[in-house]
Amino acid sequence: MSALLDIASLSVAFDGKPAITDVTLQVAAGDSVALVGGSGAGKSTVARAVAGLVTPTAGRIVFDGVDLTAVPQRRRGAARKGMHLVFQDPYASLPPTLRVGDVVAEPMVIHRIGDRDSRRRAAVAALESVHLRPAESFLQRYPHELSGGQRQRVAFARALVTRPKLLLADEPTSGLDASLRLEIVDLMSELAVSENMAVVHITHDLALAARSCRDIVVMQGGRIVETGRADTVLADPAHEYTAALVGAVSGV
Ligand SMILES: Nc1ncnc2c1ncn2[C@@H]1O[C@H](COP(=O)(O)OP(=O)(O)O)[C@@H](O)[C@H]1O
Ligand SMILES: [Mg+2]
Repeated sequence: MSALLDIASLSVAFDGKPAITDVTLQVAAGDSVALVGGSGAGKSTVARAVAGLVTPTAGRIVFDGVDLTAVPQRRRGAARKGMHLVFQDPYASLPPTLRVGDVVAEPMVIHRIGDRDSRRRAAVAALESVHLRPAESFLQRYPHELSGGQRQRVAFARALVTRPKLLLADEPTSGLDASLRLEIVDLMSELAVSENMAVVHITHDLALAARSCRDIVVMQGGRIVETGRADTVLADPAHEYTAALVGAVSGV
């Protein structure tokens, strides 16, 4: 079976300086993969290349059977309809002038899905699935009227509303305090199962990675240095950089 997301030998450079080099990574439908590494490792660049926000200098990204690096410009949006990217900072990434109901429904508008009524129903259902209840009481509010955790829930509701096959979450919990971080990561795992969605969770936190995902991919200096099952990687890291991350988690 071919993978839902198949990244082969992907490289991205900015002004001739390599940001990621020779990244190869597969994510099967319904799978959860954590992309782990320190700041500047290249994690966001991988996500941004998959989402079409940066152009690769080499390599291939195949999503749901379509080679994103080969589709004509005008068809790229449609080819990425089945994926959604959630960013680190829900305050900056949610449109501030829209009410929550419209924030959540907006991806349906962008992809021309449904009519006004069905979009509203989908927004209510999405808000309920991220446990913002009663959903109706959130529809008319603005993102800035919500707490950080509620805003990140809205960001996930917005991600779910088009029923994507792939969710790319780039440090979705980094602006939140420790207890909320676990809550949001567990919500993401719950949604992955209930929506049968593949998840790529980008984080610098190895413990959160292991909690949220079955597989872990470790990046350092723009390259993948280790890949494996979360429990194996934590118990028996093969690369010294991963061992250092494990040490940092356990306080050794
Ligand atoms: N838009 C950009 N322009 C120039 N350099 C960039 C840009 N985005 C990322 N980089 C560089 O690429 C490397 C990887 O960055 P990034 O993917 O953001 O890492 P991470 O998300 O793991 O912290 C870093 O050296 C960073 O400075
Ligand atoms: Mg980043």
